[in-house]
Amino acid sequence: MTKSPKPKSKKASEADAGRVWRELVAEIERHDALYYQQDAPEISDADYDALRQKLTALEAAHPHLATSKSPSHRVGAPPASPFGKIRHGVAMLSLGNAFNDDDVIEFADRVRRFLKVGADDPLDITAEPKIDGLSISLRYEQGALIQAATRGDGAEGEDVTANVKTISEIPHQLKGKGVPDVIEVRGEIFLGHKDFAALNAAQAEKGEKVFANPRNAAAGSLRQLDVSITAKRPLRLFAYTWGAASSLPGNTQTAVVAAFKSWGLPVNPHMKVCASTDALLQYYTKLEARRAKLGYDIDGVVYKINRLDYQERLGFVSRSPRWAVAHKFAAEQATTILRSIDIQVGRTGALTPVAKLEPVTVGGVVVSNATLHNEDEIKRKDIRAGDTVVVQRAGDVIPQIVRVIEDKRPASAVPFEMPQTCPACGSHAARDHDEETGSGDVVRRCTGGLVCPAQAKERLKHFVSRNAVDIDGLGAEKIEFFFDTGRIKTPADIYTLAKRDAASAEPLSTLKGFGQKSLDKLFAAIDARRSIPLDRFLFGLGIRHIGETTAKDLAKAYLTLDTLRAASDAAIAGGKGSDAYNDIDNIEGIGETVVDALVDFFGEPHNTEILDALLKEVTVLPFERPKAVQSAVTGKTVVFTGTLTQITRNEAKAQAERLGAKVAGSVSKKTNYVIAGSDAGSKLTNAQALGVTVLTEDEWLSLIGRA
Ligand code: IVH
Repeated sequence: MTKSPKPKSKKASEADAGRVWRELVAEIERHDALYYQQDAPEISDADYDALRQKLTALEAAHPHLATSKSPSHRVGAPPASPFGKIRHGVAMLSLGNAFNDDDVIEFADRVRRFLKVGADDPLDITAEPKIDGLSISLRYEQGALIQAATRGDGAEGEDVTANVKTISEIPHQLKGKGVPDVIEVRGEIFLGHKDFAALNAAQAEKGEKVFANPRNAAAGSLRQLDVSITAKRPLRLFAYTWGAASSLPGNTQTAVVAAFKSWGLPVNPHMKVCASTDALLQYYTKLEARRAKLGYDIDGVVYKINRLDYQERLGFVSRSPRWAVAHKFAAEQATTILRSIDIQVGRTGALTPVAKLEPVTVGGVVVSNATLHNEDEIKRKDIRAGDTVVVQRAGDVIPQIVRVIEDKRPASAVPFEMPQTCPACGSHAARDHDEETGSGDVVRRCTGGLVCPAQAKERLKHFVSRNAVDIDGLGAEKIEFFFDTGRIKTPADIYTLAKRDAASAEPLSTLKGFGQKSLDKLFAAIDARRSIPLDRFLFGLGIRHIGETTAKDLAKAYLTLDTLRAASDAAIAGGKGSDAYNDIDNIEGIGETVVDALVDFFGEPHNTEILDALLKEVTVLPFERPKAVQSAVTGKTVVFTGTLTQITRNEAKAQAERLGAKVAGSVSKKTNYVIAGSDAGSKLTNAQALGVTVLTEDEWLSLIGRA
């Protein structure tokens, strides 16, 4: 404050203090909730501490404010956790940091001095990725997983056993030689980049909270009171150390981790033993270069003294082991200018603000767009066109804006205003009504529905997409082109394209970029999808709230499109609460939101016109109940590893199980097939060592008849 304020009356200054106090308390409570309940902190620990110090100082000056309600009475403790507590057998500590090469050299020298190991004597040190997830302790007794706990304050963590048991990668029973009677296996739970991106896209679509990064998403997914939510999130684990153990299966770090692997625990495939500091530093440089390609977040390298007798002698200093250190990567952030905030219109009309940036390199990748999620997020961070912003590649995938550098704000920058009309069709854009809070939802939607070209385009892209009708070679770009040139406006137009094109004065083959061969291929791919299974068709229609699972539930219940339409028509005629309406509502997995969406969709004549035109071109196949399957993989044990490109690993597993295969988490002699996607690690190596048949994703799909 530069101007000296007018002296105020005591009453006025008390009123001011009260206002400041209320603001501070609200702010602190908001950050508490973000940190403890939503795993989405917005400020650093230091900034949080500063807020609390401000509150303490204010209450010291105005003691009447320090009521029992004040957060100053909580000693920084989290609000009572809904999870039970578990005391760790051995405390879960953290790691000291090394920020540069000298720190690493100093670490190795210090260890040598402590152990009295000469500079030329051997000292093996392991190097492995530092996984950016959340640490977990898994207590196995007689090989059975009996407890899982988060780190908590190091001595006591939260009991997340039920949640952890839903993670398919984590064995409920350790198998093999040398499993101790008791062992606390420790490691990191995380979400891969693709799974993180898919989760956030689904959350944003539903108008639910988007996670700032994979770490927060993993923590939020694990700490769910409803474990069925955790079960749906493809959480993963790398086991890398241990706490209490009745015995150990080896004398070195690497031997114990190899035993973990042999017992069925996932371990990181990039662990390496280094014989010199140079080798450690080389490992660091190489890993940093590969960082973006790993498919999961890492924030550095962990070095550990390999011999366990040395580890024991070295012990701990304050809260970190002397035998290990974390060599951190430089944060992947960069500063750039935000040119404009564009609005994208999604399939269901959701308007999503996107930051258009002056291109900048962040962690080796050029970034020119960043997601802004929704208008509330922009308001909270007060992001304006023209601002200089700090950009971060969270999860190495979706760049986001961390904050604005306010000192650099041009005088002309004005606060962002979310448009009240759709930029594509001019229709009014309204915030959804959130039934729970009774107020506006975070998502603003174009109400133009069927007249909005942006929504129409997105619906077409959705219709042809892989999990819907799946037309090969008809991707987003082609749909854009066909739509913009008036060739395809509705799904039916896709199927009449070839005929119309043959009769056209300007056939596609005369245009740049359309060879006859590729056109023939495209038309053949379209023809190949003239018969569409009911569930895919329903999903492809892009009806709000009818995702893949719901489409399947409806298909299972009604078997044919005609029956489903008849049921919807009856519900439309009968209205909400009628028997016909309730009949749909009573289907397993279907709730009112879906019935309302169905009724809205089939009750709109324009939709039924489009649908009827489409039905002249395609046949919707009745839903086939999965038979007691007999397939090429029935009774076989299969293991998936690496990144699959055509379906997610979870889907692949579900598909294999439907076909009667047993999906295992680790490779053994009993494994019949290992399906290896890209970047497959130790499971692939194991399979090769054991002579197990390894299939590519394509080979697998052709084996199960889905190629
Ligand atoms: S070993 C005594 N290895 O980093 C602690 N920790 O900053 C021994 N972390 O709390 C931990 N990757 O949650 C170890 N490969 C790795 C790790 C790793 C990630 C986490 C762990 C730890 C934190 C310390």
